[in-house]
Amino acid sequence: MISQALREARIYEDVSEKNVQNEERPSFHLSARVGWMNDPNGFCYYKGKYHMFYQYYPYEPKWGPMHWGHAVSTDLLHWEYMPAALAPDTFHDQDGCFSGNAMELPDGRLMLMYTGVRREGYSNDYNKAVQVQCIAVGDGETFEKYEMNPVLTETDLPEGASRYDFRDPKIWRCEDGTYRCLLGNRPADGSGQILLYSSEDGFNWKFVSIFAANQNRYGKMWECPDYFVLDGKHVLLTSPQDMLPQGFEYHNGNGTLCLIGDYDKEKNCLLEEANQSVDYGIDFYAPQTVLTPDGRRVMIGWMQNWDTCELRTPHGKWQGQMSLPRELSVKNGRLYQKPLRELEEMRCNKAEYKDILLEGEKVFPDISGRTVDMEIRIRPADPEDMYRKFSVHFAKNEDHHITISYRTHENVLKIDRKFSGSRRAIIHQRRSKVVGSENGEIRLRLILDRYSAEVFVNDGVQVMTATYYTPLDADGIVFASNGKVCMDVVKYDLITDNGNIRENE
Ligand code: FRU
Repeated sequence: MISQALREARIYEDVSEKNVQNEERPSFHLSARVGWMNDPNGFCYYKGKYHMFYQYYPYEPKWGPMHWGHAVSTDLLHWEYMPAALAPDTFHDQDGCFSGNAMELPDGRLMLMYTGVRREGYSNDYNKAVQVQCIAVGDGETFEKYEMNPVLTETDLPEGASRYDFRDPKIWRCEDGTYRCLLGNRPADGSGQILLYSSEDGFNWKFVSIFAANQNRYGKMWECPDYFVLDGKHVLLTSPQDMLPQGFEYHNGNGTLCLIGDYDKEKNCLLEEANQSVDYGIDFYAPQTVLTPDGRRVMIGWMQNWDTCELRTPHGKWQGQMSLPRELSVKNGRLYQKPLRELEEMRCNKAEYKDILLEGEKVFPDISGRTVDMEIRIRPADPEDMYRKFSVHFAKNEDHHITISYRTHENVLKIDRKFSGSRRAIIHQRRSKVVGSENGEIRLRLILDRYSAEVFVNDGVQVMTATYYTPLDADGIVFASNGKVCMDVVKYDLITDNGNIRENE
């Protein structure tokens, strides 16, 4: 039996998604079925399919009482929408089913663990809403909320920990058959911490330790933890609120943080060795990862940032996209990301140019488009005469363009969507110091979908992501330099258009 609220959401999405034309969506990135999408939730591989749930408000293209949207895929690039999975329909989640995670139980059922939100008294303030952890179990399509919910409440918090900021469970099963859960929380110092819980059966949980403490180093509250062991290192991903800039590494507002280190078995906490941003662009937040059957750790983030939500689709039929699935690895204390290798199967119409001398602007007759995979290698044409700047403009017509530019004297890469057609006074540019570039050499892999760019720098040691809603007829690509540049470029068109298949087609 599903609740009235969930039934209504399912009927609503079924009817109103028919108003969305294919080209009004990204071609191979998952977007909200209708209405609003934020964080990825419950990202898992279950019974032969990848499942992606997401923070979802179907009724309007803006944040509202959170449901869980749902989509499945066999290759992480072509998604099929499923009926909404959760609605805020019980006492403890009456104001929202916030972010969480999924895991297969030994009996073959899929368990979702999420944060139930309830505003107290007559308060309208979501900052004063009690947050508890709830469970729903199902067959991969329909889920029944656990009758003993909530399974973690304020009584399970360590001293000083806030019951208003206690959310976003990440769950997993250990080799010995017991379970662990990490949660974001705000301690008495007002910043953030990640709490560790354990369970014998997945339903009864107890507090173990403070797994990682922010101590006001990286923003305030830490949201949406993810955690895994990769290439011998322990990796914690989290998304801090209220950050202050630190050089070019972290920027103001909501950001992403990757802590790499070891695991302290005595204290049950992360021994931090290195820290970095997960994404150096504008739109990336709250990522989750999945382990593929062939052993790859793949990450998808919400391709948006709370501070730039004013950049909206012109038609308002959906709002919010997920990033590309990115294969992760850890090398020399850094997180590397590469586009999922299956993306290469979507490549067609190859155009390749080698050792091109660039001085000023250049276009190529067979390089243009809005769904493109392009690899660019840049070096000075004359090592004695260092060029000052290399740029590539894309989504370009007379009125619009987005630009990526590399300045050799600063070793800074910039993404700039100022001329993308945005009419809002929000952040349109972001700059990053480049890791792994020397002597004017840089390698960029640029993945363009209709409404986004993801730039993988120097084989994935950094990524810069930004969204834009530029008219689709702006599809020019122009290379430009200040000084003499030598360039190799390989471009492919990415063809899908059965991405985001409608369930009933
Ligand atoms: C992060 C977040 C989560 C919360 C959800 C609410 O983007 O704030 O902490 O669970 O969004 O939609």
